Amino acid sequence: MTVIEIDGLTKSYKAGKAVDGVSVRVERGEIFGIAGPNGAGKTTVVECASGLRRRDGGTLRVLGLDPEGDRRELLQRIGVQLQEAALPDAIKVGEALRMYASFYDKPADWRKLMEEWGLTDKRRARFASLSGGWKQRLFIALALVGNPEVVFLDELTTGLDPAARRMTWELIRDMRDRGITVVLVTHFMDEAEALCDRIAIIDQGRVIAEGSPRELIAKGRSASLDDAYFALTGRELG
Ligand SMILES: Nc1ncnc2c1ncn2[C@@H]1O[C@H](COP(=O)(O)OP(=O)(O)OP(=O)(O)O)[C@@H](O)[C@H]1O
Ligand SMILES: [Mg+2]
Repeated sequence: MTVIEIDGLTKSYKAGKAVDGVSVRVERGEIFGIAGPNGAGKTTVVECASGLRRRDGGTLRVLGLDPEGDRRELLQRIGVQLQEAALPDAIKVGEALRMYASFYDKPADWRKLMEEWGLTDKRRARFASLSGGWKQRLFIALALVGNPEVVFLDELTTGLDPAARRMTWELIRDMRDRGITVVLVTHFMDEAEALCDRIAIIDQGRVIAEGSPRELIAKGRSASLDDAYFALTGRELG
């Protein structure tokens, strides 16, 4: 079953086109990766698909719903971890989880989630006092608190230490095993290779390549996904 259908999505900001005709399909239970250079339009695609930003053109269906027209219903069924999320400085970890749980009709057990993400010891810590990695963990837990069917994770492991990163990978696989569809924006090709069933590489607002890690490696005539990424985007390191 297709849970996300994006056809010809376009979005411009004052400075120009950010998304220039993106079409992708994501099947239920997949981990779908979105990779690409800075400014490629990845976050904009995620924002449009999750009902957080208005598109200019194209059609979008997530769980059969229109992210704009059916926004309220959709927000009950998806979870979003945004790249540049923020919370009030003074809110405590436990309070944030409890408050987010209250937004949903069928929330997860937020205390259990807090435990799973290693946040229990920090439950009385204020948001402003958390390091970047701990903020990140909190945002992931918040994305899951509504028991979502689809989760959008934008640069999920940026800023996490290696142990937290591995743990996060395990939890993402757990999500998939529970039937949750995961859309993962990432700059890390090792992460994409380890986790994603399929990946779309976006550059300048367009999908320039799409497929399983193995298919992309073959398309790029490369030995690794890292090399394939540079071959396909034509970008050099450094
Ligand atoms: N709110 C905004 N207002 C104006 N321009 C924006 C806004 N958000 C993004 N843009 C522009 O749209 C383009 C795509 O940005 P977007 O954030 O979608 O890229 P991205 O692929 O997520 O990049 P990154 O890897 O750096 O996170 C960029 O040129 C960016 O400067
Ligand atoms: Mg981004």
